[in-house]
Amino acid sequence: MAKVTIDGTEVEVQEGLNVIEAAKAADVHVPHFCYHPSLTVVGQCRMCLVEVEGMPKLQAGCSTTVKDGMKIHVYNDKVDKARKGQMEFLLINHPLDCPICDKAGECPLQDYSFNYGSVTSRYGEFKRTYPGMDRTPIGPHVVQNMNRCIHCTRCIRFTQEITGTSELAFFKRGASTEVGVFPDTPLDNWMSACVTDICPTGALTTREFRFENRVWNLDSAESVCNGCDVGCNIFIGHRNGQIFRYRPRVNPDVNDHWLCDFGRFSHERYDTDRVVVPKVRNEDDYFGISTWTEALDSIGKAVRATTSEKMAVIASANMTNEEAFLARKLFADRLGVKSIGVMVDAIGPIRMKARTEWLVGTQGAPNFRGVERVLGEGTSKRVDDLLTRGAEGIDVLFITDAAFSERAKDPAVVANLRKAKMLVVLSWDATHPLADSADVVLPSTIHAEKEGTYTNLQGRIQRIFQAFPPKGQTVTDLEIYRRIGAHLFPEAEEFTTADAADLFDDMRATIPAMKNAEEAAPAEAW
Ligand code: SF4
Ligand code: SF4
Ligand code: FES
Repeated sequence: MAKVTIDGTEVEVQEGLNVIEAAKAADVHVPHFCYHPSLTVVGQCRMCLVEVEGMPKLQAGCSTTVKDGMKIHVYNDKVDKARKGQMEFLLINHPLDCPICDKAGECPLQDYSFNYGSVTSRYGEFKRTYPGMDRTPIGPHVVQNMNRCIHCTRCIRFTQEITGTSELAFFKRGASTEVGVFPDTPLDNWMSACVTDICPTGALTTREFRFENRVWNLDSAESVCNGCDVGCNIFIGHRNGQIFRYRPRVNPDVNDHWLCDFGRFSHERYDTDRVVVPKVRNEDDYFGISTWTEALDSIGKAVRATTSEKMAVIASANMTNEEAFLARKLFADRLGVKSIGVMVDAIGPIRMKARTEWLVGTQGAPNFRGVERVLGEGTSKRVDDLLTRGAEGIDVLFITDAAFSERAKDPAVVANLRKAKMLVVLSWDATHPLADSADVVLPSTIHAEKEGTYTNLQGRIQRIFQAFPPKGQTVTDLEIYRRIGAHLFPEAEEFTTADAADLFDDMRATIPAMKNAEEAAPAEAW
């Protein structure tokens, strides 16, 4: 360990850490462009200059490692003057684009221009431009505006060091240097859009998000990607109940600074018609909008007219641990249903780079492991039987999420499930075939509308937070189980009080496979 003094604050840090990282311990931010904690150090932009007592010249904070007793000045007149000079060079050719640039509001170049840039330019020549390179699609997701590039090489190093695909490189020389892709080799790898997160300017933006919204108009909620079982940590950027983007939330043990393209854009599935009111099929086979009371009455009537042997439940691997636990209390403990199963679609493999290892996701849902632990292992065979042989002889079949499997869109599978006398389906997607064929459809939530935890492929229990409230008459899935439970068992306490936090504690105490499970430490800020 090394004791160093940074702007008057003494901190103890790991010897060998660079000044930028060491300064974080003293809560001091060292301005920088080319440095990125997960890429090699190239010392190229000179924005990170700091003064180290005893050294004759200013030092680059990214390539200077701390030693015991060092006294470092990040903010003083000498360093400020150097930073201002560096910004003047960087801005010589930069367009005055902030008002129309999608990076504005979260752009390091804009922020540092505000702190260190001059309001006037001493440069009387024409700015260098890259004609025809101001909106170039360089891959399926990434659009480049070369005029905004400051040649920091973060994007190039990302494709060399993280994905190993090396699509990007410098071309030409001197003031004409361009970042680009090789002929016939687009930036088309499974994590390609990560370059738009790490580009410190508006030179690289995603085709999907550009011009969709100004970033300062978006709210942000911490969550976990539900594209696969890796469980990458994300921020959900949303406004008025609509998701505009996912951004990576740094977690060195899971996804570091990255997201795969599939997961990053997987929120597009929610741009569809939503189920926002309960729907019930009446005795004349008319299927129309209804009320919660009518829907619950209809379920209650069917449940009371049958026995536990003639009921079955298909649980979804999209459920949170807490939802699975409350569903278990309702269906297994109270109603005595034996046929409860969960299944997951195989996908991928999707490779994600944590700081020290690659994680390989193979399941197309975030929480198969958690739901299986709560409901009992090896239950997917039961679901498979229902999908292939049909629900013949079942009086009431509950499906906790119409989107539990891609197979549920197959007309033959829908027909098989439809063999149940009464089909009760929770769905957020009004266009799903099951939402059309059920007898009772209950409007349920997408993951941005609820809170709880998922268990990822490492066994990490990670929390999701509600970004915005459910739409229309939709209630959270926990509330749906509470309503059904309270309707069927008015005297039962577990359906009147339980919130996600209580259920988590109860689950840890009750389920052997979840014994003493801990929620993983939250992701670090970057
Ligand atoms: Fe850096 Fe962005 Fe230019 Fe790439 S495109 S070199 S990340 S400024
Ligand atoms: Fe989402 Fe999985 Fe991709 Fe991570 S690896 S972003 S969890 S789909
Ligand atoms: Fe140190 Fe660029 S961050 S030189």
